[in-house]
Amino acid sequence: MTLQTGPTFFSFPADALAQEAEVAAVVAGLMAEAPRVSPKYLYGPLGSRLFDAITELPEYYPTRTEKALLESCRDRVARATGPAPKLIDLGAGNCEKARSLFDALKPAQYVAVDISADFLRQSLSQLQRDFPHLEMLGVGSDFSSGLRLPDAVSRDNRLFFYPGSSIGNFTPEQALTFLAGIRDHCVGAHGGGLLIGVDLIKSEALLQAAYDDALGVTAAFNLNLLNNLNALIGSNFSVADWRHRALFNVEASRIEMHLEARRDLGVRWPGGARAFRQGQRIHTENSYKYALADFKALLERAGFSRIQSWTDDNNWFALCHAAI
Ligand code: AVJ
Repeated sequence: MTLQTGPTFFSFPADALAQEAEVAAVVAGLMAEAPRVSPKYLYGPLGSRLFDAITELPEYYPTRTEKALLESCRDRVARATGPAPKLIDLGAGNCEKARSLFDALKPAQYVAVDISADFLRQSLSQLQRDFPHLEMLGVGSDFSSGLRLPDAVSRDNRLFFYPGSSIGNFTPEQALTFLAGIRDHCVGAHGGGLLIGVDLIKSEALLQAAYDDALGVTAAFNLNLLNNLNALIGSNFSVADWRHRALFNVEASRIEMHLEARRDLGVRWPGGARAFRQGQRIHTENSYKYALADFKALLERAGFSRIQSWTDDNNWFALCHAAI
């Protein structure tokens, strides 16, 4: 067994042109009649830590429910996956969920991908100390519009791991495209699969509490997006002028997070400005909730097969394993 010298990091940084396009897209979202900002701007050094805090809240059931499901499924996933998979963790964050699979899966390689590159660097370096013989690669990238992997990740027997119900940030149509894209990363290869977590439809009261907790951690997480925008586009959003809103949109089957102006106000950034009326909202996140049968059908439409699923006794959350 070779001792690894440490995780290798790759970043696919946005070039100057892409960065300009990113700023333009954010500004267009802010200027829209129904203002909106991508949920990816929730993350960063502070946002990722606030999200970690959310996962510890009594109201936020997904993380702990999924953790228990991972324990119950891992041996069957290991059997379905076969020996020495390359474990590719999409949105790895603190890497804790993947860590819980190492013993059962015995991966040949662990590839952690996250948009919050500095946060990932920290968690992966710690993980490498705890697992000094496992080859680890860190990839700092926003994979929401297409995943790019370093050449050092061979194609055979990849197990994509997409936990936490982050798939819920996409509309079902976008989710289909994303899932088909993951599958494309494995075609022509030997073996390969996907282990994915999905949040299920449940009572509005439970959902509401999970996205608007009593301590106000989710509110802080949502409001901190304004700090991230200020850093990105040079705007002068003041967090104190906004309040967190979470609501369940029954027709669309999704929780929506919004930021609502507490008073009439104006926001400026280099090259632009916008007025917001009191009560006006910026839509910051969708978190879709699925019926399990519909989600399995989506996996099949994306080209996956041999789908297995695990749910908790309350039917709050599901883990699915699908083969390529
Ligand atoms: C990381 C997208 C799965 O939708 O539950 C938590 C993010 N937003 N609380 C989710 C989130 C508000 C989370 N995901």
